[in-house]
Amino acid sequence: MDVFSLRTFCVITGASKGFGASIAVRFAARFPKDSVLLLLARSIDGLARTKSLIEAESPHIKVFTIGVDLAKADSSHLDRIISDTLSDLSSTSSTFEQATIVHNAATLGDVSKLMSEQCVDEDLHEYWALNLTSFILLNHVFLKHFPKQLFRQRVVVGISSICALQPFKSWSLYCAGKAARDMLLRTMALEDSSVQVLTYAPGPIDTDMQYEARSYTADDELRNMFADMKETKKLLHCDQSVDKLISVLQKNTFDSGAHIDYYDI
Ligand SMILES: NC(=O)c1ccc[n+]([C@@H]2O[C@H](COP(=O)([O-])OP(=O)(O)OC[C@H]3O[C@@H](n4cnc5c(N)ncnc54)[C@H](OP(=O)(O)O)[C@@H]3O)[C@@H](O)[C@H]2O)c1
Repeated sequence: MDVFSLRTFCVITGASKGFGASIAVRFAARFPKDSVLLLLARSIDGLARTKSLIEAESPHIKVFTIGVDLAKADSSHLDRIISDTLSDLSSTSSTFEQATIVHNAATLGDVSKLMSEQCVDEDLHEYWALNLTSFILLNHVFLKHFPKQLFRQRVVVGISSICALQPFKSWSLYCAGKAARDMLLRTMALEDSSVQVLTYAPGPIDTDMQYEARSYTADDELRNMFADMKETKKLLHCDQSVDKLISVLQKNTFDSGAHIDYYDI
């Protein structure tokens, strides 16, 4: 069933800028009236910018923004975020036909060092807290609030990367994190056929994360490759890649748990 044909409660992480903001704006334009977007990130200003873009283009959608550091939020905090939003709406989850979550927030980590070089304890803990622990906790809380009996469809999208499949020098944490997130979602797809699960690799998109990649990557060859992609205008615009994700979700013919890359389509 076309994901954009149903009245939806949709959670999007990392919606303050970059790819997540573009997902929020372009999804909002397609969801039917009385759908709700719940946008999460740390930057309140960034979230407010995304919200005002949505309100200008898609006044039929209700938007909630919550500033939260996902690296620090525990499951009861995440639980409250969803229950408070539902009570602000004076709705229950059964008001919606579909529940969707897009796990987009992620960080590159410190790419200025190779794996064999020094790493800092706190940085490492914080890296996994955001890129894995919060991903697992939020997913759990989401599925708890939106149980299968109440919905025509539940959709979980993980924003992935080619790095989930292939190692890149100096990017060990990022590659390991993306591979782990993909495997968690593939396992969930196997365990629970009531959830439609997709991992989508958006291709090289022109965002702050790309700036970090071409500025700080320790490996010269990789850093130069990203600098060259920027210079020769080979980076994708976020909207270009979001539109491919939208077309995959509209057709909705992928096997649950599939990993689909921008360049596969
Ligand atoms: N850019 C690329 O070429 C590329 C390629 C393949 C895959 N991807 C994937 O695409 C997704 C989006 O990346 P992007 O390029 O748009 O990155 P970005 O510009 O760095 O944006 C990252 C988003 O994550 C949020 N975030 C970061 N740390 C957070 C925290 N502790 N708590 C809550 N939110 C946090 C940021 O918001 P705040 O700073 O406001 O918290 C921001 O909204 C990521 O999953 C990335 O791995 C990107």
